[in-house]
Amino acid sequence: MTQRMQESDGILRVPGDKSITHRALMLAALAPGRSVIRGALTSLDARSTARVLRLLGAAISPLRTGAVITVEGRQRFRPPARVLDCGNSGTTARLLLGVLAAHQFPSTLTGDASLRRRPMRRITEPLVAMGAVLHGAGDRLPLTIEGGDLSAGRWTLPVASAQIKSALLLAAAVARVSLELEEPASSRDHTERMLRRFGFVIGHSPGRLQFEPTGEFRPTTFEVPGDPSSAAFLLAGALLAGISELSIGGVGCNPGRIGFLAVLQRMGAVVRIDDAIDAGGEPVGTITVTGSSLGGTTISPAEVPGLIDEIPMLACLAARADGTTRFEGVAELRVKESDRLALVARNLTAIGAHARVEGDDLVVTGSSRPLAGRVVTEHDHRIAMAFQMLGLSRGCTLQVDDPAAAAVSFPGFADHVDQLRRRR
Ligand code: S3P
Repeated sequence: MTQRMQESDGILRVPGDKSITHRALMLAALAPGRSVIRGALTSLDARSTARVLRLLGAAISPLRTGAVITVEGRQRFRPPARVLDCGNSGTTARLLLGVLAAHQFPSTLTGDASLRRRPMRRITEPLVAMGAVLHGAGDRLPLTIEGGDLSAGRWTLPVASAQIKSALLLAAAVARVSLELEEPASSRDHTERMLRRFGFVIGHSPGRLQFEPTGEFRPTTFEVPGDPSSAAFLLAGALLAGISELSIGGVGCNPGRIGFLAVLQRMGAVVRIDDAIDAGGEPVGTITVTGSSLGGTTISPAEVPGLIDEIPMLACLAARADGTTRFEGVAELRVKESDRLALVARNLTAIGAHARVEGDDLVVTGSSRPLAGRVVTEHDHRIAMAFQMLGLSRGCTLQVDDPAAAAVSFPGFADHVDQLRRRR
């Protein structure tokens, strides 16, 4: 059984937060001396970040489940001897492009087939405007970036994206320049929270961030909370399986990440957060969801950045709710690990549910009729997990083509599926 999967009090645990683990590894690698990371995610994506940082000169202990990770960082990275392979991880590639934009040597980044299809110009364009040099003007990996003398900048983000925002903030922090960012809506703010811990000043008013290079990276101890995006699968899975109540402890409750809880509430679930504490600048708590019959709802474009990764799961839940659920303005789903907008609609339709794409909206109408068939994941971890959870619903017989894709973000997911199945 997965370590820490079930505490004796019946409260489940999920692995460490993916977004926070990437950032902790990168900032620790930039702090000369020994940092410690507790609760780190050890999934394939986290290992991609560790692998690439090692090639840049950081010494990082093996990412093994349950292990405390130590990182020997350095003031400046050294030129890598090889191409930096970011695997499936968009966060690794995009945040590192930012860090490398402030290092005056060329580095080439690549990734797997999925990552090589994802847009990068949204990151490289502002980095080039700040002074980095990009070899090859393409929008896709592989790309070679060479850092320059970056200058202070002002940039308007084309979409609400924590990856773009974080890449620019990290470039500015390493190059020690000021930066002003305008954002169409707020996205997750883990980078800002971490940078503030190191003394960087980041002013925030609605739609605007002002970064000042006042801080300095020092070795520290990072505490990584459980990943709310992983918790979302189990909470929704419990509702689908008809399990009356499920609690998950030690989960990150950053307001920029738990938009899905408000949606669950509007759909009719009862949601509670208990034992809330601050852990290293991030809110953490125990989330409990109590199920009953669910109904449809509308997710507005303003809500989307706060639940972007949970849409495949919420769409599967909507397929079992009464009435219609509309996800408005979810075009960003097209450029995730797969085209999630098309793939969610296609898979739901293929198994007999009602789902369609209308412009940039995803519309799902629920039913309790039997759903059956093969689910094509295109190796996308969140599609694989969402449909495995839907398979727990009464009358669903689904064959997910790559259930093991969950390993990208959620080690031990299969054990949780088994446990929820037994509790039905
Ligand atoms: C992430 C930001 C989100 C999210 C991704 C992780 C991050 O992407 O989908 O899984 O760690 O910053 P965008 O910032 O592109 O929306």
